[in-house]
Amino acid sequence: MTEHRSPDARFRTSLLEENDGPATNPTDNRTMGEIIAARFSRRGFLRGSLAVSAIAATVSPLALISADEARAAESSAFAFDELEAGIDDKHHVAPGYDADVLLRWGDPLFADSPDFDPTKQSAQAQSRQFGYNNDYVGYLPIDGSAEHGMLVVNHEYTNPHLMFPGIVKIVEKDGKKSAEVAPLSKEQVDVEMAAHGGTIVEIRKDAGKWQVVRDGKLNRRITSSTEMALSGPVAGHDRVKTNADPSGTKVFGTFNNCAGGVTPWGTYVMAEENIHGYFSGELPADHKEAANYKRLGIPEGAYEWAAHYDRFDLAKEPNEANRFGWIVEVDVNDPTSTPRKRTAMGRFKHEGAESIVAKDGRVVFYLGDDERFDYVYKFVTKAAFNPNDHAANKDLLDDGTLHVAKFAEDGSVEWLPIVFGQGPLTAENGFTGQADVLIETRRSADLLGATKMDRPEDIQPNAVNGKVYVMLTNNSKRKADQVDAANPRAENAFGHIIEISEDGGDFTAAKGKWEVLLKCGDPSVADIGATFSTATTANGWFGMPDNCAVDSAGRLWVATDGQGPKATGRTDGLWAVDTEGSARATSKLFFRVPIGAEMCGPLFAPDDQTAFVAVQHPGDGGEDWEAFGRPSYYEDLSTRWPDFKPDMPVRPSVVAITKQGGGKIAV
Ligand code: FEO
Ligand code: CA
Ligand code: CA
Repeated sequence: MTEHRSPDARFRTSLLEENDGPATNPTDNRTMGEIIAARFSRRGFLRGSLAVSAIAATVSPLALISADEARAAESSAFAFDELEAGIDDKHHVAPGYDADVLLRWGDPLFADSPDFDPTKQSAQAQSRQFGYNNDYVGYLPIDGSAEHGMLVVNHEYTNPHLMFPGIVKIVEKDGKKSAEVAPLSKEQVDVEMAAHGGTIVEIRKDAGKWQVVRDGKLNRRITSSTEMALSGPVAGHDRVKTNADPSGTKVFGTFNNCAGGVTPWGTYVMAEENIHGYFSGELPADHKEAANYKRLGIPEGAYEWAAHYDRFDLAKEPNEANRFGWIVEVDVNDPTSTPRKRTAMGRFKHEGAESIVAKDGRVVFYLGDDERFDYVYKFVTKAAFNPNDHAANKDLLDDGTLHVAKFAEDGSVEWLPIVFGQGPLTAENGFTGQADVLIETRRSADLLGATKMDRPEDIQPNAVNGKVYVMLTNNSKRKADQVDAANPRAENAFGHIIEISEDGGDFTAAKGKWEVLLKCGDPSVADIGATFSTATTANGWFGMPDNCAVDSAGRLWVATDGQGPKATGRTDGLWAVDTEGSARATSKLFFRVPIGAEMCGPLFAPDDQTAFVAVQHPGDGGEDWEAFGRPSYYEDLSTRWPDFKPDMPVRPSVVAITKQGGGKIAV
C-alpha cells in the first residue's frame, strides 16, 4: 500500500488530548504571578518540607514521611481494603468486590444487531452495537429504581490501529523499526463514524448482577451521522449555515463526546470536546472564521473523514466546524427524538456538564474547557426547574447565562457573565450579537480576563456539602512566571483539584471562595510538591485527575488519565478522596485499569451499591516503543482485555463494580 504514515502522525492515541492546540490561547490574561500564596499552600509547604528527597518515582512509602506532626491525618473514612497500585494487562478492584464487564465495544444492543466480528466490521453493524472508547457514564432510573434503568454512555473517539486488522506494518530502516499505518478505507471511516457518539441502553440487576436488556424499547445509538438540531441563540445564524443546511438549524452527528451529564429532568447531555481533529483542509483566503478556528486549533486533521465527506473539509464547507463544540441534549424517553445542540451553553472543547438545582430552582451546569490555559465555566438557566412537569423543562437549556471563572489570589472566585453588550463583548470587538459571543466563547472569555487554567476536566457539584470540585489534569507548558494562585505549579505534570464554595451556598452566586484541595503526584518526591495527607499510602496517591464522581453520601471519587510506565509507574484508576475533617486530602486506590487505558465514568448507582466505570483505550499507548520495544496494535497488543482471546482485539468496556455479598460500595 502507498501512503503509509508514521506512527506519530497516525497512531491516534489518547495523547491527542495532550497534543492538542498548545498555543491557541493568545492572551496574556494571566494571572497574578508569583503568588504561590501562603493561604492555600500551607499544607503543601508542610508536605514539601517533610518529604524525603527524591527517590524512584514509582515507590513512595508515605509511612516514611509520616512525621508530619502538624497534619497527623486520620486514616481514610472509606471502609475498604486498599488495592495495590501497579501495571499489568488486567483490571483490578479492591479485595471483597467484583468488577464485572457489562458492555464491550461491539456488543449487540438490539434484536437485529449482529454479533461482534472484528474481521467483518461495517457501519451498519457498528450502528447497532456498543460504540468505541466509552467515556461518560450516566444512569437514569426507570420508575425510580436503583436496579433498573437506562445507562447512557459517550463514545469519545476511535483508535484505528487497535480496531482494524491489517492496517499497521512494522518496517525497519537503517536498523530502526517504525510502524506505518495504511490510510483507512471509506468503509473503515464509516465504521469510525458509527463508533462515535453515544449509547442509550436499558440495564437491570438480576440476582445481584447487572445485565444488558438487549432490544430494550428505549435502546438507541447516537452516531456522527444522527440528525440533530441547533437550538438556542446560535440556531439559524449565518455562521452556522452550510450548503447542505441553508437553514443553519440541522446538523448531522456529534463526535468526541467526552464527559457529560444527566439533567434533573432526566435527559442525557453529551459534551463535544476535541472537535478540531475531525476537520481538514484550508479555509478560503482571509476567511472571516480564520481567527475563530485558530483559537480552537481547527483544523487539526487527525481523522481522515474529510477525504470521504466534504463537510469536514474547510475549503469546501467553511462553516461546518461552527456546528460542533457544543453541549448536546438527548431525550432518552423517546428514541426517535432529535438531539439538540444547546448553543446557549457555549462553544469550546467541552469536557462535561454536571448540574445541580440551586435553592431558587434554577439549574447550574459546571463546564470545563479542556485545553492548556483555558477556562472554567458555569451556565445558569433563566427559568427554574419544574419537578412536577417534565415537559416544562424541555427547553430550559436554550435560555440562561454562561459565566467564566476568574480566580483571585485572595481565595475568591468571580463568575463573569458572557453576555453580548456587557463589558468588552460589543461591536467594537467584532460581535454583532449573542450568537457571535457564543460561537467564539473562548475569545469572549479572553476579553473578560478569565483565569487560564491547567486543563479543566470534569467539574462536579456536591449536593451534600455544597461544594464544587474542579479537576485540573495537568499543564506541562505552564512556565514559572505563569503560575498563579489557582494554578500554583510550573510544569504541572500531575494536575490538581480545586474546591469551590459558592457564596451563601447558592450555586447561582456571582462569587465564591476557592482553595486547592489537592496537588497531585508522588508525595515522596519533594520537587513535585504533592499534598496528599500523611495517611495516604504508597498506593493511594495519583496524578492527572480527569473524571470524578460524588456518591450519595457526598464523597469524592477521582478517576485519572495519563499515568503509565513512564509517568507514574502505575496505571490509571479510581481513587476515593476524603474532603472532610482531618482525613481531608487522604486518597485510597479502589480500582485500576489494564495497561494503556484511562479511567472514565465513574458513576455510582443511586443506592451506592454499584460503581460503574468506563475503561477507555485499553492497550493503547505511544509509550510502548520505549517501555516494551514495540508499539501496541491490532496484531500485537499489549493486552487483549477483556476477552483475552487470540482472535479478539482489545475492547473498551464499561465495568460494574459491586460488593461481594451486596451492600454499599463503601461505608
Ligand atoms: Fe476527553 Fe478532557 O478528556
Ligand atoms: Ca475526560
Ligand atoms: Ca481525558
